Amino acid sequence: MFSKAVAGGYAIPAYNFNNLEQLQSIITACVETRSPVIIQVSNGARNYANETMLRFMATGAVQMAKEMGVDLPIVLHLDHGNSFELCKSCIDSGFSSVMIDGSHLPFDENVALTRQVVEYAHQFDVSVEGELGVLAGIEDDVVAEESTYTQPEEVEEFVKKTGVDSLAISIGTSHGAYKFKLKEGESVPPLRFDILAECEKRIPGFPIVLHGASSVLQKYVKLIKQYGGNMDGAVGVPEEQLRKAAASAVCKINIDSDGRLAMTAKVREFLANNPEEFDPRKFLGAGRSELIDLIKHKNEAVLGSAGKV
Ligand code: G3H
Ligand code: 13P
Ligand code: ZN
Repeated sequence: MFSKAVAGGYAIPAYNFNNLEQLQSIITACVETRSPVIIQVSNGARNYANETMLRFMATGAVQMAKEMGVDLPIVLHLDHGNSFELCKSCIDSGFSSVMIDGSHLPFDENVALTRQVVEYAHQFDVSVEGELGVLAGIEDDVVAEESTYTQPEEVEEFVKKTGVDSLAISIGTSHGAYKFKLKEGESVPPLRFDILAECEKRIPGFPIVLHGASSVLQKYVKLIKQYGGNMDGAVGVPEEQLRKAAASAVCKINIDSDGRLAMTAKVREFLANNPEEFDPRKFLGAGRSELIDLIKHKNEAVLGSAGKV
């Protein structure tokens, strides 16, 4: 999937899921746009929904796509694995891919931990994503105030020593819905495409991953506010910049917050406009329809993955 994406100038979307409606939306949108997809599970998702439940849901998702008439390439991936034991447990239970996120560790410890996971995973044909450089924001209980950009001079040694299949780098994205603190009149600073280019030069054609790639679409921030929420100051990475990244060696782009916003906006709108309604299928259904549209839009206009199946 990655080599096709690198050669084809697009990125595979990696969408997080925690519940039925999110997974249905991802599969429906990816079937309808003929897009390969990575469905990913964070540690928080495992705690919320139960690992076994999520794994069986993923099996159901594969079957659902088949029944919709498309043989979709679907990867079940562990997002931000923080220990060998967690990665092993996911590999043992049938995940096709895991991330070991040692980005908060000193370089040598990151290498050693990542190498340990790779050695185990490759016995079972499971691919491994590593990370170099720290993203700001919250990822599974680890909070980083500031991002530390990836140092391009480290990537070659990291990839060689660990044997990873893909590498997440830090070029100015961050997790969550508040990616940049902008003063009045300021606009979002561009991603560090110079660092990306330097990394690409050192590991030509190697699959690069971008985390924290939500754009925080302002139409949802406004709807949330209109219907009683408050997300003042929420801002993300402009979609044009992600499109540009997807055309390069970036071949996996992680999107979670944008889906959360779409679903929250439409659930709030539905409940405000239908105060007598109490059937969760109605309000979750409203969120699900919007999430399908959002994911189709991402695949078509941002990732470039639509039509690649
Ligand atoms: O990297 C963070 C993902 O958006 C997952 O978020 O840890 O709240 O499930 P979570
Ligand atoms: P966002 O918070 O920008 O959606 O990033 C999600 C992510 O990187 C999951 O690993
Ligand atoms: Zn992430």
